[in-house]
Amino acid sequence: MNRTYRMKTAVFASGSGSNFEAIVNAIQAGKVEAEVVLLVCDRPDASVLKRAERLGITSVSFHPKLFAAKAAYENEILKHLRLEAIELIILAGYMRIIGKTLLEAYSERILNIHPSLLPLYPGRQGIKDAFNDGATETGVTVHIVDEGIDTGEILAQRTIAIQPVDTINSVEEKIHAIEHDLYPEVIQTYIKKLQKESD
Ligand code: GRF
Repeated sequence: MNRTYRMKTAVFASGSGSNFEAIVNAIQAGKVEAEVVLLVCDRPDASVLKRAERLGITSVSFHPKLFAAKAAYENEILKHLRLEAIELIILAGYMRIIGKTLLEAYSERILNIHPSLLPLYPGRQGIKDAFNDGATETGVTVHIVDEGIDTGEILAQRTIAIQPVDTINSVEEKIHAIEHDLYPEVIQTYIKKLQKESD
């Protein structure tokens, strides 16, 4: 692994941040050639901010409602991303639709993880929707972000069975375990692809 180059990334999160921490851990373990320079959070009370503090990662958090429009909110974020020369955005439980401002500035450079086998069960409650639908399998998808809701090009998927003994909590646990493994792996592959393209 080339130790001199590490892609500068920002993780966007709104909640607990277990994926954020898994990515940081994978980087520390030398599995991903990246650096998480910044955590961007849209909920100033989210526990992911405490994780960032513990992990020594700079964070910024804004109340989107305090901005006149989505573009103004995203322009504020963009300022921070540019200041840090961020090359790749990693959404990890960021509960907001990415708008035109960020999509244009980071075309093909925003990744997301979603807890279902897309195109099945997009939206805010992928796990619950699959479970309540009586699905016998579900899984995790990593995709490139476009203007739709969980619609961008799929990079990787992993499937789990939903057994009759499963509860929503046990399914959630299985999904998270897979996410923590899969997301760093796909990020690393994507970084290599971007590097190759810019060579
Ligand atoms: C994950 O299940 C992810 O797939 C979804 O939001 C959840 C975030 O969990 N987009 P965490 O905050 O990383 O623990």
